[in-house]
This record gives sequence, C-alpha cells and structure tokens, in this order.
Amino acid sequence: MFVSMKDILEHANVYNYAVMAVNSVNMEMARAVIEAAQEKHSPIIINLGVGQMKKLAHPTEMVPMIREMAERADVPVALNLDHGSKFEDEISAIRYGFTSVMIDCSALPYEENVSRVANIVALAHAKGIAVEGELGHVGQAFQGDDGKVDLYTNVAQARDYVDRTGVDALAVAIGTAHGDYPKGMTPRLDFERLKELKAELRMPLVLHGGSGSGEENIRKAVECGINKINVCTDAFHAAEDAMKAKWAENPKANYLEIMAAAEAAVKRFVMDYIDMIGSADRYGYGEYLAEKEEIVVLKKTG
Ligand code: 13P
Repeated sequence: MFVSMKDILEHANVYNYAVMAVNSVNMEMARAVIEAAQEKHSPIIINLGVGQMKKLAHPTEMVPMIREMAERADVPVALNLDHGSKFEDEISAIRYGFTSVMIDCSALPYEENVSRVANIVALAHAKGIAVEGELGHVGQAFQGDDGKVDLYTNVAQARDYVDRTGVDALAVAIGTAHGDYPKGMTPRLDFERLKELKAELRMPLVLHGGSGSGEENIRKAVECGINKINVCTDAFHAAEDAMKAKWAENPKANYLEIMAAAEAAVKRFVMDYIDMIGSADRYGYGEYLAEKEEIVVLKKTG
C-alpha cells in the first residue's frame, strides 16, 4: 500500500510506537527496506534526501519504482522528501508523487521558519500530502551539534509553531545529530524535554540522526513519544560492511554477488530495528482500515 505518512504516524502516535524512515537511494535499498517491513508486518517510510536525489537517486526513476514496490506490498509504505528546504524542492517532490514532504527551515530565524513552512503546508494539504517541519536544529555529529543545548527545541515555541504552521509531524532537537558520532561516543538525550514536548503537542514527533544513538536511547525515545526515527548512516554502513566482508571472503566476488550481499544486510538491519522500535505486527491491509476508524474514535473521545 502506498499511503500518506500522516496515516502511518497518527497510528503510531495513538499506540505509542515508532516507524523507521530509511534513506533508500537505489533499487536494492528500497527493495530491502520494503521487504523487511513486509516480513515484519510493519509500516515503513522511505526517505529520499534532496542531495541524494541529485547525486544518485534520481526521482524520475526512483519515485515510480518505489510506488510500484509499495503498491505490491501488504503493509503501508510512505515516500517522504527528506530535508527539503527550498520552495522548488517541495513543489517538485509533490509533482513527482511523494506522499509527504519535510520542509527544514530550522536554520532560519523563527518567523521565517513559520511563514515558509505554513506556505508549504497550505499547498501540500490541498493535495493530500503530509508535511513534517523541524524546530530547534538537529545538526551534524562531526561538529558536536548534539551537545549544543541552545539548538534544542523549546516547548512553548513548539506549541506556537505547530498552531501557526499546521505541520502533521514535528522533528525535534533533543540531543541527536546527523552522521557518525566520534568513535565510542553515544549521545546524551534530553528525555525530560521530549516528555514535555509530547505532553504539550500530543502529535507525531520525529527523531533525526537515528544512527549511532544506541539501543537504550532509541527505546527510551520511543517510550517518551518519538513516532518516526530517521536512519541513514547506519543503513549505509550495513550495506558497506557487507560488501567489504564479501570481498574479504572472496576477492573475486562479482557485482551481482556484492550487491546481493548489501541488499541482504540492509534487510536484516531494518528487520532488527523494526523489532527494537515496536512497529512489527502493527497492521496488514484490512486491519489498517479498521484501525483508521479507531483513530477517529480515539480522537473524538480523547
Ligand atoms: P543519520 O544519518 O544520522 O541516521 O540521520 C539520518 C536523518 O536524520 C535523515 O534525515
């Protein structure tokens, strides 16, 4: 099923679990991620980043292919633009057929972040496309941004931001950062802030920079209200490590063997991650529609 990210995340928000969003930059990665979700009976989100689409994952080929794979799957699959920031990025993603878009204006002054994001929300919602915003700023691990408390999301400002932009999901800065952390280091997350954000907003919250964050942190982040975890670097590493291992085992291994090893490793990685964040066995096609009814009922009475 090719679905809106909004449906996936509303369910996760109501039932307190998280769904992986994996940057999948070629056929093998997309297939590994969707097959892992299928085997685990889990919803899944495919992320494509703006830079990744320029370098390798050209949307003209990737979007129809992912859509076709998603339609064949029994589990809900969403396709999300990762870290769009310019108006043109968002509009072209909507035209290509993404089911949701992230607009990241988190490095801009607050009022500019609000007005640009509100503008995209109006356009996207008119087409039934979900929008993820970011407040506070999730930076880069190699710069030590994870420890910069002044970049973390402010709870009162987040309330104002969500009310004025109308975003469907909010990426929060609570101590993670993108990319590899220095060797041996695990980030320290501000769980108190996360709990306050969840209590105030009661909406789907997103954790960027999932890689290298440590199992204990990830499990606790889900418990405290994270519903979408973005993972890129660790998924790439799973593929790279498998390719290196294949070549070490057999230096004559050919292209087909190397690519198959990478695909199998990404699939294993995603299946294990799905178990960790609680999205396994969440719903199949029929149940999904029934669960949607339940969300509406919960919202009415809750
Ligand atoms: P990592 O590469 O650290 O997993 O971050 C991915 C991400 O947040 C994509 O938006």
